[in-house]
Amino acid sequence: MKTEWLNRGVFVAFFVVAAAHMPAPVAAQESPVDYCSSCHSALDERLSAPVTAFATDIHSERGLTCVSCHGGDATAAGLAGMDPAKGFVGKPGAEGTPEFCGRCHSDAQFMRQYNPSIRVDQVAEYVTSVHGRRLAELGDTAVATCTSCHPAHSIRPPTDPLSSVNPLNVAETCGACHANTEYMAEYPIPTDQLERYRRSIHWEMMSVERDLSAPTCNDCHGNHGAAPPGISWVGNVCGQCHSVMTDNFSQSRHAQTFAMLGMPGCATCHQNHDIVRASDEMLGLGEGAVCARCHAAGDTGGEAATAMRSLIDSLGSSFEAADSILGLAEQAGMEVSEAQFELGRANNAAVQARASMHAFSVEAVREDVEEGLGITLEAHQRGQDALAELQFRRAGLAISVTIIVVLIVGLVLRIRQLEHKRRTT
Ligand code: HEC
Ligand code: HEC
Ligand code: HEC
Ligand code: HEC
Ligand code: HEC
Ligand code: HEC
Ligand code: HEC
Ligand code: HEC
Ligand code: HEC
Repeated sequence: MKTEWLNRGVFVAFFVVAAAHMPAPVAAQESPVDYCSSCHSALDERLSAPVTAFATDIHSERGLTCVSCHGGDATAAGLAGMDPAKGFVGKPGAEGTPEFCGRCHSDAQFMRQYNPSIRVDQVAEYVTSVHGRRLAELGDTAVATCTSCHPAHSIRPPTDPLSSVNPLNVAETCGACHANTEYMAEYPIPTDQLERYRRSIHWEMMSVERDLSAPTCNDCHGNHGAAPPGISWVGNVCGQCHSVMTDNFSQSRHAQTFAMLGMPGCATCHQNHDIVRASDEMLGLGEGAVCARCHAAGDTGGEAATAMRSLIDSLGSSFEAADSILGLAEQAGMEVSEAQFELGRANNAAVQARASMHAFSVEAVREDVEEGLGITLEAHQRGQDALAELQFRRAGLAISVTIIVVLIVGLVLRIRQLEHKRRTT
């Protein structure tokens, strides 16, 4: 198209003109006429769509106009308003886009007038990403640029549910390319990340529970520095949120060995995109146990796996036993709510044991399990006591009923005796 507008000379001229206008970005809005919008509204779909879409764009909401980005002269009624000599830039093209947006977004002083806390590192980060580097170094225009993730004219802040970069929409935004086998055909990487992510516990938490603290693509890959996490820092990625597991893991024998073997830390056992809810079945040497992939009954790791599993299982069954005896007592009308509350604390010990498992040391797990067993055994005892007291009360009740019956019978006999005496006297 009008690529001649995009040559470097014009771009530099645009920067100069734009910079001169910078301190008063809202001036254009105050101008009574905006021929850019009025003329464009009357044109074909390609040329009018930006006007329609722009109404709800964050830039429009902040008082920016067509000219803020594209330059030119909004007060000129004809095509003359789009004169490159007036700083006009049409479509920046993929290569020009980072600077096009960065003109404002990398300018801390300018951006602070609008939002004192907004980051101004998007371009700086972007150029370090696989996307940015391929664009700059190889001229690969199929990678994502600013407008692939923030569609021009309908840009909204990440907090807006309709934004392409709202946490609930990011996967779809990345998937537009990464799940498109045709689009990605030239590249040697898989195209199943979206499909697998959609099966993960993280997506379930996010989409079903609306728990926005669960990660989507950019939480693991960075917003702008999108890169595949290297083997050495996969743990850091997960560690942003699962810090206890990560601390334990990084002190374990596995951390070093896995790094040496080129295995991706947490993802070795949990996958990266289709991470599912963990279960005790993953531990040990049985079916579905991850440890069995590398360990056998004869080696130290295998023995540890079996030992940790039976410790965690013992806590589980002790918990169930205590829970059911307290349930019986409750059904019989005994007051055991405090004991039930206390028993709940054993769950914390189980959670801790599963976290300690990540140090891959049997002792650490044993410590947590024993603390849990202390709680479950105590609760079990209180359940038994409650049932014993119930029996005692029932026995007591039977005795008092008997005494009352005996008393009544005695009383009746006595009355009859007295009546008999009166009649005979
Ligand atoms: C009198 C009508 C009119 C006015 C006023 C006008 N434009 Fe245009 N604009 C057009 C037409 C027609 C085209 C298509 C030109 C072409 O494709 O050769 C166009 C194209 C564009 C393009 C796309 C260029 C490309 O590379 O494809 C942009 C961006 C644009 N205008 C922005 C603006 C801005 C900003 C203003 C105000 C400063 C403005 N226009 C004023 C009619 C107008
Ligand atoms: C935040 C910056 C920004 C603002 C404000 C903005 N644009 Fe754009 N516009 C762009 C970018 C970037 C592109 C190139 C889009 C792309 O490559 O996908 C573009 C492309 C266009 C095109 C070409 C569309 C096409 O599909 O070929 C037109 C026409 C246009 N803009 C008109 C306008 C008009 C009219 C306004 C004001 C209502 C406006 N723009 C406001 C950034 C902006
Ligand atoms: C003329 C200066 C300017 C240009 C050029 C510009 N922006 Fe902006 N942008 C702003 C301002 C000002 C805001 C409002 C910041 C605020 O109030 O939070 C904003 C807001 C945003 C936001 C929402 C940020 C938030 O969290 O609120 C995004 C996303 C964004 N711009 C992306 C882009 C992209 C992508 C481009 C290039 C196509 C671009 N901008 C070009 C000035 C600009
Ligand atoms: C691969 C997709 C992608 C690309 C490319 C991209 N962004 Fe973003 N951007 C995001 C995501 C995702 C967020 C939301 C971050 C969040 O939730 O806080 C975001 C947020 C933003 C924000 C809001 C403030 C912030 O930093 O959180 C601005 C401004 C922004 N991007 C501008 C840009 C600019 C300018 C470019 C081009 C240099 C760009 N983005 C390129 C995905 C992208
Ligand atoms: C416009 C299409 C497009 C969009 C949108 C897009 N990407 Fe990409 N991405 C690519 C292309 C093309 C590559 C280069 C593939 C390669 O490196 O072989 C790439 C590379 C990557 C890589 C490096 C892969 C590797 O092993 O080399 C990661 C990670 C990545 N993208 C993550 C993301 C994330 C996260 C998002 C969304 C926030 C996203 N991408 C959005 C097109 C896109
Ligand atoms: C929980 C963290 C996490 C989330 C969420 C996540 N990724 Fe990844 N991703 C990773 C890790 C870790 C790797 C590196 C895997 C390795 O080295 O084995 C990776 C690798 C990649 C790669 C390189 C090619 C490949 O498949 O190995 C691409 C592209 C990618 N992810 C895109 C995405 C997209 C798109 C999304 C969202 C739909 C996403 N990722 C969500 C952690 C995540
Ligand atoms: C942005 C925060 C965040 C990141 C990054 C993250 N997760 Fe999660 N993860 C969560 C949340 C929130 C949940 C759901 C709540 C829970 O059960 O802990 C979860 C759940 C899980 C579960 C299921 C827990 C269970 O109860 O069974 C596993 C396993 C998991 N994540 C592993 C990982 C791995 C491995 C990585 C790195 C590749 C990772 N997570 C990255 C936040 C995160
Ligand atoms: C050698 C295999 C292995 C590695 C490496 C590993 N995990 Fe686990 N992970 C497990 C097993 C097995 C379980 C299930 C334990 C159980 O339920 O008894 C688990 C459970 C979890 C859980 C759920 C805990 C709960 O309360 O149910 C989370 C979260 C988790 N892992 C995160 C991580 C993170 C983060 C990393 C990296 C720092 C990591 N894992 C590394 C094997 C592993
Ligand atoms: C991807 C392969 C792999 C998986 C899966 C794996 N391990 Fe390991 N593990 C190793 C390697 C390799 C070593 C180091 C052996 C050495 O240094 O002699 C090791 C060492 C250990 C050690 C220390 C043994 C010692 O000699 O001190 C323990 C304990 C252990 N693993 C437990 C587990 C448990 C429990 C699981 C399942 C939750 C598991 N491992 C899963 C490969 C694995």
